[in-house]
Amino acid sequence: MKHKIAILPGDGIGPEIIAEARRVLEVLQSEQGLSIETEQADIGGSAYDAHGHPLPASTLKVAREADAILLGSVGGPQWETLERALRPEQGLLGLRSELALFANLRPAILYPQLVSASTLKPEVVSGLDIMIVRELTGGIYFGQPRGVRTLDDGQRQGFNTLVYSETEIERIGRSAFEIARKRSGRLCSVDKANVLEVSELWREVMTGLADEYTDVELSHMYVDNAAMQLVREPKQFDVMVTGNMFGDILSDAAAMLTGSIGMLPSASLDSQGKGMYEPIHGSAPDIAGQDIANPLATILSVSMMLRYSLNEAALAERIDTAVGSVLDTGLRTADIASAGTQTVGTRAMGDAVVAALQSG
Ligand code: IPM
Ligand code: MG
Repeated sequence: MKHKIAILPGDGIGPEIIAEARRVLEVLQSEQGLSIETEQADIGGSAYDAHGHPLPASTLKVAREADAILLGSVGGPQWETLERALRPEQGLLGLRSELALFANLRPAILYPQLVSASTLKPEVVSGLDIMIVRELTGGIYFGQPRGVRTLDDGQRQGFNTLVYSETEIERIGRSAFEIARKRSGRLCSVDKANVLEVSELWREVMTGLADEYTDVELSHMYVDNAAMQLVREPKQFDVMVTGNMFGDILSDAAAMLTGSIGMLPSASLDSQGKGMYEPIHGSAPDIAGQDIANPLATILSVSMMLRYSLNEAALAERIDTAVGSVLDTGLRTADIASAGTQTVGTRAMGDAVVAALQSG
């Protein structure tokens, strides 16, 4: 069966890291029998420049028709003054919402070779393997009403709405319980139930689900404590489930435990397992076009795509092994470099992974 993959490079370092991920796909295609058909489309600021909108109808069509989507990154200073609806981020948020990609899986895995790249002590992070399950199409990111209004006294007031329905909580809860069941059987739900009604409901629904998943041990934690525990003793966590904004913040913190945000892939899935795959880092406009960005998070996103949407786990395994063996040789992009390693650029890192795949 031929898999249809939509490729959306986006802005900043997006195009360079996607180029390396494409080469990985091409090797799997020419040498490992992966049958794919790719179509590239514009998203974000570059889509605004070319079509006047960060999520053009043509891109949405390509994304809808694909079995999986591979995305680079969006955003950059030149688009920050546009009205909100036209900003690059809306391209990404629009895709998540239009395609109902509600389950965002953000694994934070520390490669043993990168222990010294983390800012935390080796004993705190070595062996780290956490999965953050972030709700991606609801919460304060999408809640209505929202805006900036003028009050009676003439000053302006900004407002957003944090809402979650039982259905939304239940479906992300089920995803998280299913994942926990396949891992260590421990799930920590993160909320702010001591202050927010929406979190109280969140906790109630999660607790209700626990009756069905008796093989999973559910715990609850307030988000401020969770942020602290993540840097204090991260290995206490296995699977964490949380809402959209808390998940945005906690997943960046978790990423840094692993040495670099440049290493972490993500999957955003709908209820059928169709998904969008992207590195969790942003477009890093400050280093764009310099051949220094780390392509590994994007290459590992290809691995997640093969595993979660295309049912090609063996090929995913090959990519993971290839990345590990490249790290074994001591090659590092600047973000993960440390004493005794050899710093290489984006393209050379891609070369190394391709070579490892060919010899593996
Ligand atoms: C992420 C990013 C996005 C988010 C931005 C670019 C809209 O930070 O994927 O974590 O906040 O979800
Ligand atoms: Mg983020």
